[in-house]
Amino acid sequence: MLSKQVAKHARKFFPAYVIVRTLKGKSVLLTLKFIVRLLISKRIRLSLSHRIALLIQMYRIDQNVPSAHSFDEYLACCVFILENDTLEGSILEAGAYKGAGTAKLSIVARACRKKLFVFDSFAGLPNHSDPVAITTLGYTRRFAKGDYCGTFNEVLSNVTKYGAIESCVFVRGYFEETIRDFNEPLMAVFSDVDLVSSYKSCFQLFPCLVEGGKWFTQDAHIPAVYNLFVDDRFWENDIGIKKPQLTLLSRRLGYFSSIPAIRS
Ligand SMILES: C[S@@+](CC[C@H](N)C(=O)[O-])C[C@H]1O[C@@H](n2cnc3c(N)ncnc32)[C@H](O)[C@@H]1O
Repeated sequence: MLSKQVAKHARKFFPAYVIVRTLKGKSVLLTLKFIVRLLISKRIRLSLSHRIALLIQMYRIDQNVPSAHSFDEYLACCVFILENDTLEGSILEAGAYKGAGTAKLSIVARACRKKLFVFDSFAGLPNHSDPVAITTLGYTRRFAKGDYCGTFNEVLSNVTKYGAIESCVFVRGYFEETIRDFNEPLMAVFSDVDLVSSYKSCFQLFPCLVEGGKWFTQDAHIPAVYNLFVDDRFWENDIGIKKPQLTLLSRRLGYFSSIPAIRS
């Protein structure tokens, strides 16, 4: 009761409140690192007031839209995009749920005058045969068909209200069907799709990543998915490239760097 009162009043003192909330989270240092970087990076070609406005918008999204990520996770990708906005190519999100991450990426896409492609079934997870995930964070996840369902209308409404809908291109359907026709240059991808089979489909897009681009994933804590990330044979036989380097930022969050000249 008392803590609710404190939180209510503390909200008035944003951004101090965000920092306090951040300190309660698990990725304290990572969150602070990316907040500071967003505010002071010389590589970001936005005014300080625009950067602060972006942070406030992200905070508002977290307050109003249910999501399955922590503040640092999309922020890391957003900072990468803002610092590298001169790279050719669009942004792509695989796995939108209710559209919280989509809204965050969309405001950054607008700031950089880039397109954001949003791939999802808008019906939740598909059928699958993955084992029950005993995550490296110590909890167990049993993914069922339809989990994490955000309908198209829900996502549309959330992104319209809190994001930049004009920057988004929505691609509806299971990745197995939708991804094979895509062939546009990408400078950043954020994937949060939980399942090995979904990653196998999504990674068909890896060759679309331009040189210098990055592919962020929020699923490194799921052992079966991680095993796919580091499986040389998968990358060589199924994707036709040498395994890309995976850099972990936390137990859940990491990014793959593009392979030089992969699109040529
Ligand atoms: C964990 S949720 C994404 C959470 C979101 N990134 C967030 O942080 O709020 C996983 C999403 O991936 C989508 N998804 C997973 N596998 C899919 C597939 N094979 N085809 C289409 N969508 C898929 C689900 O519909 C769901 O929206």
